[in-house]
Amino acid sequence: MPDRIIHEEWQQQWGHEYDPKWKQGDLVPVLESLVVEGKLGTVVVDVGSGAFPISKMIDGKLRKGLKIIELDIAAPAYETEDSIRAKIDVENLAKKDFESRRVLVALRQWLKNKGFTTEEAVVDSAIFSDVLNYINYENVLPELLPLLKEGGRVIIFNAPRRGYKSLFRVEPKGNIDIFLLLRKLGIRLEILKFNNTDFNTTDFPSIQSLDGQMMLYVGVKGSINSSKSGIEAGIQ
Ligand SMILES: C[S@@+](CC[C@H](N)C(=O)[O-])C[C@H]1O[C@@H](n2cnc3c(N)ncnc32)[C@H](O)[C@@H]1O
Repeated sequence: MPDRIIHEEWQQQWGHEYDPKWKQGDLVPVLESLVVEGKLGTVVVDVGSGAFPISKMIDGKLRKGLKIIELDIAAPAYETEDSIRAKIDVENLAKKDFESRRVLVALRQWLKNKGFTTEEAVVDSAIFSDVLNYINYENVLPELLPLLKEGGRVIIFNAPRRGYKSLFRVEPKGNIDIFLLLRKLGIRLEILKFNNTDFNTTDFPSIQSLDGQMMLYVGVKGSINSSKSGIEAGIQ
């Protein structure tokens, strides 16, 4: 489907909610634990945030102090003291076109106005909730991850091939492909859940049987201890 039509389709969908109960049950508690443990950091980017960003479902008290940057292809831009939303097709980041560069400069300026550094890597956590199926993440992740600080986190909630198939940019790959790609990009697996159940076995066949299911993945950029987790060892 041409890019223009995809933009229009998402525009028409703007304001929809996408399985909020599921996300509130499975994803939000993990985000809240990360805040409590001081692991979510301060600058949080919510990619493909939608009109009801998952980052904003975090309990209000815990959310205090976070600076949330929402990126969405269909979003009307807005700005408050603690959050900013930019309309951007994240696929264009790789093209480094004028519009994406303009958006990045504006976001950096917003952070600078709040007293943050303007260094390249400025993001503490990047959330991709229910969006990987709709973007060519093999191109997008290498563009976004350099903005993540060393020790910063990538949080993904995704069921490959589940969703609006007509809006898939490319045929989505499975969960294993996703975390192999992340590892290649220097992200170390920290938490892995399928259907809200911790997955801590090295049993590769059972991972394969979960390849198309709803995955919650938390990974850390770089690592003090670069040894592979059991799961990663299992998929060698
Ligand atoms: C299924 S919704 C998920 C919304 C929200 N993250 C959630 O978990 O409920 C996918 C969102 O990604 C946005 N989106 C799709 N393609 C995009 C792209 N190329 N760049 C930025 N946002 C995109 C859509 O506008 C939509 O808001």
